[in-house]
Amino acid sequence: MPDPKLANVQACVFDAYGTLFDVFSVADGVRQAVGDKADAVTAMWRQKQLEYTWLRSLMGAHVDFWQVTRDGLDFALDAAGHGDPATGDALMPLYLNLATYPEVVPLLNTLKKGGMARAILSNGAPEMLNAVVGSAGLDGLLDAVLSIEEAGIYKPAPVVYQLAVDRLKVPAENICFMSSNAWDVAGAAHFGFNVIWVNRFGQVRERLPGTPLAELASLEPLPALLGIAD
Ligand code: LAC
Repeated sequence: MPDPKLANVQACVFDAYGTLFDVFSVADGVRQAVGDKADAVTAMWRQKQLEYTWLRSLMGAHVDFWQVTRDGLDFALDAAGHGDPATGDALMPLYLNLATYPEVVPLLNTLKKGGMARAILSNGAPEMLNAVVGSAGLDGLLDAVLSIEEAGIYKPAPVVYQLAVDRLKVPAENICFMSSNAWDVAGAAHFGFNVIWVNRFGQVRERLPGTPLAELASLEPLPALLGIAD
């Protein structure tokens, strides 16, 4: 059933990591390096990566997401007793070949056929995003791949969400933003986007300003909500 609150949407903007690309698909590669510590390292890698984006933004000490991702990995490896830099060197390329969630390619095709503009807005550095978009075969399915590097600060700074408005030339109230990250959902909704929380991990909602219009378990029902036929 189309959602009347989404009737004026002109562009769909997606978070990348965790929403289109499965950051936990690194787990097999991590297991080869650290054995039974793999689950702990994989989870801490993601957690530290995100914490460092927020902390560096507050500190006014920006470095790009490749560096933040490496720093998060090195922390996680060190905490697990695998602090050898060669292990980090071996694991970082996994981030350029993340698996895509299974509904993503059909969804983007459906939105494209339905005439809906499609973009990524991500913390990722441009080279990282271009690599993972290419390896996932999403090149021809996106109108724009937008990186926060242009703003020099990470989500959820409002200036980052404004990049999508400026680059797509679509007002915030006509943009539908999708993220699996509850804090990104809050930031984007607080900014003024229509937000759909793709709650892939069954999380509880954050106690932050900014409320999503809808919550889905995957992106699969999105075209129906937007009134776009499969
Ligand atoms: C991104 C992080 C938040 O892609 O997953 O921006």
